[in-house]
Amino acid sequence: MENQNVFTGRSLCVIEDLSIAEREYLFTEVRKLKQAMEENNLEVMDQYRIDDKDFGIYEVFLEDSTRTKESFKNAANFHHAKVSELNSDSSSFNKGESFADTFNTLSGYSNTIFIIRSKIEGVCRWLEDECSLYAERNKLWRKPTFINAGDGKHEHPTQELLDEFTFLEDNNWSTDSIHLALVGDLYHGRTVHSKADGLKIFKSVQVDLIAPPELAMPETYIGRMKENGFQLRMFSSIEEYLQQADIADKWYFTRPQLERMGDRILQRQDELRSMITFKKEYMTKIKEHTKFYHPLPRHKVTPTIPTFLDDTPLNGWERQSINGMYVRIVLLSLLGGKIGNGYVPCEERKETERAEYIFEVDVAAVQPKEKVVSEGVHPIHDGLVIDHICRGDSPSEIRDHMRLISSVMNLDESKGGEWVSRGHSDRDSFKGIIFRPNAKELSRKELKRLAAVSPGCTLNIIKDGKVEKKYRMEMPPRIYNFDDLSCTNEACISHPSQAEGVPALFTRTKDNKFACAYCGKTHSFKEIWKSRKK
Ligand code: CP
Repeated sequence: MENQNVFTGRSLCVIEDLSIAEREYLFTEVRKLKQAMEENNLEVMDQYRIDDKDFGIYEVFLEDSTRTKESFKNAANFHHAKVSELNSDSSSFNKGESFADTFNTLSGYSNTIFIIRSKIEGVCRWLEDECSLYAERNKLWRKPTFINAGDGKHEHPTQELLDEFTFLEDNNWSTDSIHLALVGDLYHGRTVHSKADGLKIFKSVQVDLIAPPELAMPETYIGRMKENGFQLRMFSSIEEYLQQADIADKWYFTRPQLERMGDRILQRQDELRSMITFKKEYMTKIKEHTKFYHPLPRHKVTPTIPTFLDDTPLNGWERQSINGMYVRIVLLSLLGGKIGNGYVPCEERKETERAEYIFEVDVAAVQPKEKVVSEGVHPIHDGLVIDHICRGDSPSEIRDHMRLISSVMNLDESKGGEWVSRGHSDRDSFKGIIFRPNAKELSRKELKRLAAVSPGCTLNIIKDGKVEKKYRMEMPPRIYNFDDLSCTNEACISHPSQAEGVPALFTRTKDNKFACAYCGKTHSFKEIWKSRKK
């Protein structure tokens, strides 16, 4: 019978799904298990085993894998569990079945933990929600757990766990600081994307990004690293990196992911690979005690960590790969409810922010001081005035955005107009005003839509020449429930081209962008609306 603790039944879709303290707890357990396995200490090993032949662990790999798939399979066998594998080539995926229907079906066959690799980003997050409803409807004994074993260019959280464990092993278990060079295909490499939040386990983080511009780290992850307080530097090649003195003692290589590259980049693959391949002549430039890591595989003909380095003290990648099985055994123990009772939560679990962002202003208090309309706009007798639009942007940007607001808010057919107004005190500052005589009052859902397309604006409801109601709109913490919105990432499970029926959901980041709840791609609020389905 399983224990119920804070880990039981959770999913791991992105590395942030485990807090820093939870990961530290996991690493402490991995250390104990690793030692026990090295010493063949069966008594300790048994403390980690789920030891239930009916406990279903299902592997679904829709992209190739050796390490992740086989280390999880070995980890699942360690647990004496029921281990299954979906053969995707002959599954009903090929008859157009959705992810939700497929995994609901497998959940119903007494399976509890699913390990999924797919090129579709955000699959596990979607299934976590969708399959819990199925479990509830069908009174299954537990909602299923999903472990992301790598989703497209998004994240690879279990690789991140084993990477962090290996860095800590080489850091004498100190979490004080890390200086890490990320080298290679930082654009397509999901293992380096997980580092943007993963490295937060270290108190001070210096990251050097080494990649030619074609393979550079996407803005989403650069933004997140900055938000997390990492010190960042960028170099286009190893050669350029070695021309300066502040060189990292840990290097993390990733392979050029040819299978994800377009023709334009593929034509230059030899030149690009050379910029991220370690060469013999660099040996004299690196620091003593440097360690190299690699999630692997490396290419047999063109490895970026050449094989002459295998038998040198630089080699951290072989132990890193071996650690994968220990980490995955303990992860299954935790999520399967076998261990974790000893963990004392030291932080509140993050709840989705539900703060108010539409504020009704006391009209009586402001009316004498504010005019109903600004310069150039004729007062209207009844209708709507949306004011303070895109304050601070250029007049042409404001005009463009007002056209978008009008279309998004279904105001194109109404009479009225748009106006760009200069600030009274700061004559170089502009704002937009949309006025629509006789337009009807907005519903609560329309107010939310206005806040999402024009945060910072005010909405005046005019009746008989007076402001009857006034609302101030702030940036919403989440944007969802609008059928015409979608993430702009075509590989995302919520993109309409995937036809999985996943509604768009964005959450506000600290720097006031909106991250897709599935694939993590960040958008400005304008980008979200520009790409909407008409
Ligand atoms: N590191 C990693 O994910 O390797 P595989 O693709 O072989 O699973």
